[in-house]
Amino acid sequence: MDFKLQIADLLNSKFKDFSKEEIISMIEIPPNPEMGDYAFPCFRLAKIFRKSPAQIAEDTVKVIEKPDFIKEIKNVSGYINFYIDKTKFAFYVLSEVLDKKETYGSSNEGNGKNIVIDYSAPNIAKPFHVGHLRSTVIGGSIYRIFKKLGYNCIGVNHLGDWGTQFGKLIVAYKKWGSKEAVEKDGIKELMRIYVLFHEKAEKDPSLEEEARKWFTKMENGDKEALDLWNWFKDISLIEFNKVYDLLGIKFDSYAGESFYNDKMDKVIEELEQKGLLKESEGAKIVELEDMPPCLITKKDGSTLYATRDITAAIYRKNTYDFNKCIYVTALAQNLHFAQWFKVIEKMGYDWYKDLIHVPFGLVSMETGKLSTRKGNVVLLEEILKEAIEKTKQIINDKNPNLENKDIIAEQVGIGAVIFNDLSNNRIKDVVFSWDKVLNFDGETGPYVQYTHARACSVLRKANINIDKEKIDYSILTDPASVEVIRLMEQFPEKIKEAANKLEPSFIARYIIDLSQAFNKFYHDNPILVEDEKVKIARLALVYGVKTILYIGLDLLGIKAPEKM
Ligand code: ARG
Repeated sequence: MDFKLQIADLLNSKFKDFSKEEIISMIEIPPNPEMGDYAFPCFRLAKIFRKSPAQIAEDTVKVIEKPDFIKEIKNVSGYINFYIDKTKFAFYVLSEVLDKKETYGSSNEGNGKNIVIDYSAPNIAKPFHVGHLRSTVIGGSIYRIFKKLGYNCIGVNHLGDWGTQFGKLIVAYKKWGSKEAVEKDGIKELMRIYVLFHEKAEKDPSLEEEARKWFTKMENGDKEALDLWNWFKDISLIEFNKVYDLLGIKFDSYAGESFYNDKMDKVIEELEQKGLLKESEGAKIVELEDMPPCLITKKDGSTLYATRDITAAIYRKNTYDFNKCIYVTALAQNLHFAQWFKVIEKMGYDWYKDLIHVPFGLVSMETGKLSTRKGNVVLLEEILKEAIEKTKQIINDKNPNLENKDIIAEQVGIGAVIFNDLSNNRIKDVVFSWDKVLNFDGETGPYVQYTHARACSVLRKANINIDKEKIDYSILTDPASVEVIRLMEQFPEKIKEAANKLEPSFIARYIIDLSQAFNKFYHDNPILVEDEKVKIARLALVYGVKTILYIGLDLLGIKAPEKM
């Protein structure tokens, strides 16, 4: 039962000048329940009807036939306010949650549609840093949100596994590295020699020349060069996979930049044929009207990041026939995406409009910005391990007898880090502060998980099957219960909004609101009481909240332990 839709139908029958969609978009949810559950502002109608908004509202209220789920319709200063019958409201909303359980909020709007989500994409031989964490958790959540709406999602990890930096790394390894050290310290050792390369190359530019030669060897299929590169890749993936395992992230494809090596020539040829390539100081570029040109090949013939992205997009269109291809990266890459999206458009592919860049803000540690060049990096795996460790300490303080402490510490510690990244609009910069991330009372992951566990605990204690037929919904009409039910009703809509705006933060914000409303309900209403009717009704609500918090956390990629 979609109340907003029903009300829109009702209004639509009176205001035929507007489409149903327009009416839906005009319906508001008043900030204060005293002003009704839904409100329709008549201001935009004044011109059409040549009457004051107040008059329109008054006239309309007189002629609308009140459906059974509405208790009252009032006109208040230019608004038509709808008051839902609270018992019926509780019945419609809660019984749907009880029926659908974990599938509440699912839809089939995406059936038959493919969405490619390009996310995470760390660079081989460089650490997986907090920026990649953001891409990973935002992309991972977008994946889950679209999946919930019935889309077929293809998660691609477009690994940064090709480029001139590998020439540098080979030189560095041959001069200052050793097999043992790389095997022992992994990416940290690769980083150390990479940083060393930059230090030495400042004084000795011939190193750069040497590095270029090695990269050319790679491009020409030289065995020694490619063996080393493959080995660096294996070492890096071991490390990345530790992070993915901790985060519970999986990809459908690991086709990284190198995957397109043998596919770029054809695309460059196509660009040539379509008359888009221009020579500029030996390089080949595509000129763009209101942006700097897009570089396709350098003067030594080597290809670039953009060349690989253009090739990858064409490959993905042919392979997955996507409805949308979404790229989750830092805001700093805006120009890069704008440029090559334009190239696709100029190539005459009308699906250029299905390419979507989803940018996000910077992450900084309280201690200062992170940088790979200088080597003062914090490995993500270490942050995650620390989160788990710190959570374990908190559990040891607060609930030392908890069973499965290790598993729960992991679920909560990791959940806290993920939630911290997803709780604000993605475009905002994030400052990583342990006190904030792990605060069980603040607007955090642990707070939502704790609320979920609290609901589970009540249900465990009650230990009864909630028989839907026995629920007296009139019990759930006090303000705290109504607020919880109002939020429950909004959940399916929230998921759609989060998908439309590509904003997992909508879900994060929502489960905070639901948790707060539930904790108020829990505080105001004793649940395990003598009166069987009251008990069952309230338990049904607890079950509904538990279910939605579980789904919401899952959409963010966060586990929901039943005990904490
Ligand atoms: N490897 C890149 C980086 O770390 C991100 C790649 C994003 N995806 C893409 N198709 N360009 O900045």
